[in-house]
Amino acid sequence: MFTRYQPLPQKLPSQPRVAAILSCQNNLMALSWHMPISREPFRYAIAIREENFTHTLLKEHGSFTLNFLSFDHYDAIDQCGRVHGNDVDKLSTSGLSSKTSDVHGNHIIDQADYVYECTIIDTYKNGDHTIFISDVTALHLNDSVNEHPTLFLGRGRYATLSEVSQVDA
Ligand SMILES: Cc1cc2nc3c(=O)[nH]c(=O)nc-3n(C[C@H](O)[C@H](O)[C@H](O)COP(=O)(O)O)c2cc1C
Repeated sequence: MFTRYQPLPQKLPSQPRVAAILSCQNNLMALSWHMPISREPFRYAIAIREENFTHTLLKEHGSFTLNFLSFDHYDAIDQCGRVHGNDVDKLSTSGLSSKTSDVHGNHIIDQADYVYECTIIDTYKNGDHTIFISDVTALHLNDSVNEHPTLFLGRGRYATLSEVSQVDA
């Protein structure tokens, strides 16, 4: 038995998404609307609201890093999603650190399990977000990778995996 909603209700069912931190130059932003869209070459799409400072930075610089942090860091990720980088230096307020940058000057966050270096190759406006399509040009893999990804459930809720099943591949 289903109940049909049209128009769509304000609150949609929660879809857990991997939360990441996007760095463009010195700024950090929480991101969950992202997905791989090609394996060879490896390409990634991200959706960014025009109001975000990151949108301006991406248009200006054409590159970014995507930093994937474990569940231990959900609070820092959340902080990077609540304030704007033109007002706040999120690298210092979030408690995260970055000793290195990629070739374009975007942060590699020390606490990340792994980091994608991305170069934007295409952009299109779609509804209230802009889709940036990028080539993933390099991977930075941390020696100590954690098995607990950060999942964002929406409305300030975070979770991680509790069970993994293996089927014959
Ligand atoms: C977990 C999480 C995921 C988010 N995902 C996105 C996203 O995919 N796209 C987006 O435009 N904003 C997203 N946001 C909101 C931005 O992170 C937020 O507006 C942030 O303040 C923008 O920072 P900036 O203005 O420095 O770019 C997310 C927020 C959180 C907490």
